[in-house]
Amino acid sequence: METKAADKRKYEGYIGVFDSGLGGISILRSLTDLLPNEDFIYYGDSANAPYGEKTKAQVRELSENIVSGMINDGVKAIVIACNTATSASASYLRAKYDLPIIGVEPALKPAALNDKDGTVLVMATPVTLSLEKYQKLLASYSDTATCVSLPCPGLASAIEHGEPGSEEVKGVLEGLLRPYSGKATSVVLGCTHYPFVRKQIREIMGDAVLYDSAEGTARELKRVLEREHLLKAPCSDTEKIGVPGRIIFRSSLDTPEEIAIYKKFYAMDF
Ligand code: DGL
Repeated sequence: METKAADKRKYEGYIGVFDSGLGGISILRSLTDLLPNEDFIYYGDSANAPYGEKTKAQVRELSENIVSGMINDGVKAIVIACNTATSASASYLRAKYDLPIIGVEPALKPAALNDKDGTVLVMATPVTLSLEKYQKLLASYSDTATCVSLPCPGLASAIEHGEPGSEEVKGVLEGLLRPYSGKATSVVLGCTHYPFVRKQIREIMGDAVLYDSAEGTARELKRVLEREHLLKAPCSDTEKIGVPGRIIFRSSLDTPEEIAIYKKFYAMDF
């Protein structure tokens, strides 16, 4: 995210949220629900999506460019609203930069604990599933429930094209999920793009319980902001919520059409 000298600190006090594209908007929705008077800058790197089929080094470099741009712009905390970028870069970025950086991870823990006799299917990008962070998580819960990891190449890209109900999305989901229909009892949406196709996943997976990371991430952000005394106070004691925060959308595909798609997804019923 490039900044011109004149634009410096333009997001002072905001919370920066980013993803490879529009997927992180599923996380942003929970963040703004829980923290309605915070200001948010959302950045989608749609020009470089998908991250989930790149190398770890490429994802880390792209993530660092965004994070350093946001820090130059004055954000007070960053949410990596992307499982892939979290796996590839969160610990590196936390060691290097001195502000709260919150990541996301597939919600395997609640799924396994709630479904001990069942089969938990974890949908995520190939990169997320291959990296150490997920492998450790899987090792911790593979004795609790039967866990099956399902790499989903092509799914985030299909969603990124803008229509959750498109034939493209349905075709990719059919190919990936049909073999598990009636077998998996829980499905973990381990990529922030996937909650937008929750209805289409339900159509194939029937009664399986779906898990995502959005509410857990929002609670974690609130906890960290409280701990660091960074939570924005309501405007006055008499107003419980205060002035609603600002939500700004930016994209590396810097066109009005792309920003319109982001806003459409933010408002979507999913
Ligand atoms: N939304 C991202 C995730 O949570 C990545 C999708 C992609 O760009 O491959 O993993």
